[in-house]
Amino acid sequence: MINVALPKGRLGEKVYEMFEASGYECPSIKENSRKLIFENEEKGVRYFWVKPSDVAIYVERGAADIGVAGKDILLEYEPDVFELLDLDIGKCRMAVAAKNDFRDNPNKTLRVATKFVNIAKTYYASKGRDIDVIELNGSIEIAPILGLSDVIVDIVETGTTLKENDLSPFETIVPISARLIANKSAFRFKSQAIEDIAEKLAKLTEDRKETK
Ligand code: PRP
Repeated sequence: MINVALPKGRLGEKVYEMFEASGYECPSIKENSRKLIFENEEKGVRYFWVKPSDVAIYVERGAADIGVAGKDILLEYEPDVFELLDLDIGKCRMAVAAKNDFRDNPNKTLRVATKFVNIAKTYYASKGRDIDVIELNGSIEIAPILGLSDVIVDIVETGTTLKENDLSPFETIVPISARLIANKSAFRFKSQAIEDIAEKLAKLTEDRKETK
């Protein structure tokens, strides 16, 4: 049995749909109950829904053999897992944004509000820029509006959230997408089954890229 951690929510539905299209369906998952664990014994898969930011922890600690996590989470927490495949879904970017009229003063410490402390620190260290990181858990966009920070480091998908709050993206730090990850020892002991899944998902991803 391969244990698969799926990120709960819109991305997770797309991810499950890819597993289904690759031959690892589990019809009971669509019954939309409050259940969190679903199994298809015949196909040898057991799915469970977890918070997107927790997928990597389940996989790193071996509670799940494989899972799907955003590259943002992998960069932020650096879990000790194998990254097997870019699924080309959940695409967005990690960006620096600020008020539309923001002008950076390189002589002043930059105040950066973010959920992604590690990503922000690494990015500004690579530029040799001193920053004061303000860690928030959500609604990051409010920080520059209220003067809590000069800029934010956050995920931008359509750009609507920034626009509606009179903020603009200034720099892209890194493009983000969903990645198939595997527990390191599961990858050794269940290698055949995991490689089969990864191969089928890779093929599906390539086919979909071609028809885009
Ligand atoms: C993310 C991010 C932005 C928004 C960007 O939040 O933090 O607020 O999406 O999307 P957009 O560019 O399409 O407007 P998310 O909805 O993931 O929830 P969060 O606030 O809990 O991070």
